[in-house]
Amino acid sequence: MHHQPFCFQTADELAAALSSLGSELTPAADTALLRTPVCPSALPLANRFAFQAMEGCDGEADGRPSETTRRRYRRFAASGAGFLYVEATAVQPNGRANPRQLMITGQTAPAFAEMAAEMRRIANEAGHPEPCLALQLTHSGRYSKSPEGKPAPLVAWPDLARDPAGVLPTVITDEELDALPEAFVRAAALAKEAGFSCVDIKCCHGYLLNELTGARLRPGRYGGSFENRVRLLLQTVRRVKEEVGIPVMVRLNVHDEYPLPYGFGVSAEDYRRPDLTEPMQLVDKLIEAGVWLIDCTAGNPYFNPHVNRPFDSGPYRPPVSQLEQTLKHWQCVRELKAHNGGAVYMASMFSWLRHLAPEMAAAAIAAGWFDVAGFGRQSFAYPTFPAEWLQTGRMDPAKCCVCCSKCTDLMRTGHGTGCVVRDPHYAALYRSIPVEARPKPSAAPGEHV
Ligand SMILES: Cc1cc2nc3c(=O)[nH]c(=O)nc-3n(C[C@H](O)[C@H](O)[C@H](O)COP(=O)(O)O)c2cc1C
Ligand code: SF4
Repeated sequence: MHHQPFCFQTADELAAALSSLGSELTPAADTALLRTPVCPSALPLANRFAFQAMEGCDGEADGRPSETTRRRYRRFAASGAGFLYVEATAVQPNGRANPRQLMITGQTAPAFAEMAAEMRRIANEAGHPEPCLALQLTHSGRYSKSPEGKPAPLVAWPDLARDPAGVLPTVITDEELDALPEAFVRAAALAKEAGFSCVDIKCCHGYLLNELTGARLRPGRYGGSFENRVRLLLQTVRRVKEEVGIPVMVRLNVHDEYPLPYGFGVSAEDYRRPDLTEPMQLVDKLIEAGVWLIDCTAGNPYFNPHVNRPFDSGPYRPPVSQLEQTLKHWQCVRELKAHNGGAVYMASMFSWLRHLAPEMAAAAIAAGWFDVAGFGRQSFAYPTFPAEWLQTGRMDPAKCCVCCSKCTDLMRTGHGTGCVVRDPHYAALYRSIPVEARPKPSAAPGEHV
């Protein structure tokens, strides 16, 4: 089905659209479940709202959070969400996706500790239960940049469709990969000391650990067979668990939606169709290694943004219905949880559903599809929504994210980012960019950007 921009005022209108798609899910009349805690042995979550990792590209040159970064996390801390991420944070300099990406080192860790303590204090002063604070640890792989902001890709294996034109990608060596778990261990130990509740090992959206899961053409210890392709992720998880003793979660691409031989979790006949054979095996191994939460996601924001970030205006017209795409993703999470329920499951893609997201989250959670609803852009646009919803049972449509992609535009033009539509700070920043320098939206449907 073709994409139609979000146009639902009421749950009944959304229910009709879902029914026309043959979905068994319909917005829940009873949403009380969202107020209930999740209590795995590792860490309790006070409610079913999570703010997912949202990079602001506004750290200091050495990787510490800047005042603008702190502003974002003060807003998140006051939200009332039971789970809060601190965004993608590099474990070493050659893994930074931009010169302003956060990076945790001996030098920057005290600033992370201050920020985590401030977040807990703000949540407490607002009368919210203690949030679970996760620090997302990453190596950006093919999306790494030099300190000057120039592409400095370190790829798992070359791929003509994704390699930037004119840049000969450097393939990361087995020896460099052998050394990476140590960098994650170091970063996780600093995160623990800084007061984070857990660390997330980022394995999604085309960054290094995710790219390795599809590195079928790569020779050596980290490519080819399934065991080789997931070796680094599993080694990293095991070592962080054993050597640091902090709870570990994984943000996992469960379906990449790019073609074989590169894509993970995709069907050989049609890469748009998930094949969860390998993701199920991986989830078994992650849970066996002690991962307590799996935050499921999909796609690659540089290549097929509509797969992970449903949008209504942006780089191209989404080639498929964003409602269908969301259901496809949630269906994958449902199948993984049914296959192995030994972890807490978070699902993504809630912002596009605007003020009706809580009804949809409650329906899917009640049906046992997943446990927690993860919100990305809505946290930029409307950071007070969980507290408002918990108090009043409603979200204000006039405050919601409109899925316009302008926060991504800010990022892609080398700026710090936030909500251009709802946050005056970023509206002013966007206006300061000359019109001719802003990314041009295309009216054509597309896939590869
Ligand atoms: C500006 C921006 C920054 C993001 N930064 C991260 C990040 O640091 N780590 C990550 O795993 N995902 C990141 N994402 C993806 C979001 O966490 C989320 O998966 C995505 O926006 C889809 O959810 P939504 O539809 O609720 O926005 C980012 C997305 C945007 C738009
Ligand atoms: S700029 Fe604001 S409204 Fe637009 S997609 Fe980003 S968060 Fe949503």
